[in-house]
Amino acid sequence: MMSEDLARRLSQYVNQLFAQEDEVLKYVRQQTAAHGLPLINLEANEARLIQLLVRLSAAERVIEVGTLAGYSGIWIARALPAHGKLVTIEVSSVHAELARAHFERAGLSHKVTVLQGAGVQMLPQLEADAPWDLMFIDADKVSYPNYLAWAAENLRLGGAVLADNAFWQGHILNPQSEDDHGLVNFNRMLAKHPQFECSIIEIGDGIALGIKTE
Ligand SMILES: C[S@@+](CC[C@H](N)C(=O)[O-])C[C@H]1O[C@@H](n2cnc3c(N)ncnc32)[C@H](O)[C@@H]1O
Repeated sequence: MMSEDLARRLSQYVNQLFAQEDEVLKYVRQQTAAHGLPLINLEANEARLIQLLVRLSAAERVIEVGTLAGYSGIWIARALPAHGKLVTIEVSSVHAELARAHFERAGLSHKVTVLQGAGVQMLPQLEADAPWDLMFIDADKVSYPNYLAWAAENLRLGGAVLADNAFWQGHILNPQSEDDHGLVNFNRMLAKHPQFECSIIEIGDGIALGIKTE
């Protein structure tokens, strides 16, 4: 088992070599802190991995649940073709407003729509535009199973669902809170889901990946 210190230094190594942030991404992180938002965006190496998975799957139409200030959304939108589309859902009007300004600053407003509202309430209005290519889940943990059920219905065959915090800082091994159980239920549901081939990528807090095969 790798020590925490070695794991941290290896993440830094990947960040420096493969996931360098440009001025816009650095600005988004600074503004997230300056506005007092929680500093719970993806790490650069995780965002870079998700960006590569978006490219690998040739996704053109992506849904994100959990925008925060737009950090992961910028990485994702940059991986989309010129006619691509990212719809990102955020429950907090403050976060949504800041994220819109950041997508504008990144020159990505034409590709990105920020929907303000709770994921479970907003997703039904995106069903008319199904099938979608990829869904990235990074919001309220209790709703993860609902988001997965939505992905099963509304992703194209060969499409992918990705979810951050699959390890939930280890709480999945000894679940106590509602959030812990949300993640446990999500991971089980994904693992046993007849429509997905799946696993968890052991990076950061764990990123679950499922490819819709049926
Ligand atoms: C971990 S942060 C997202 C980080 C972002 N994906 C990134 O890496 O830059 C989670 C976000 O989900 C939002 N959120 C919480 N509950 C939500 C819900 N029910 N629907 C949509 N967004 C929600 C929070 O307000 C917060 O901004």
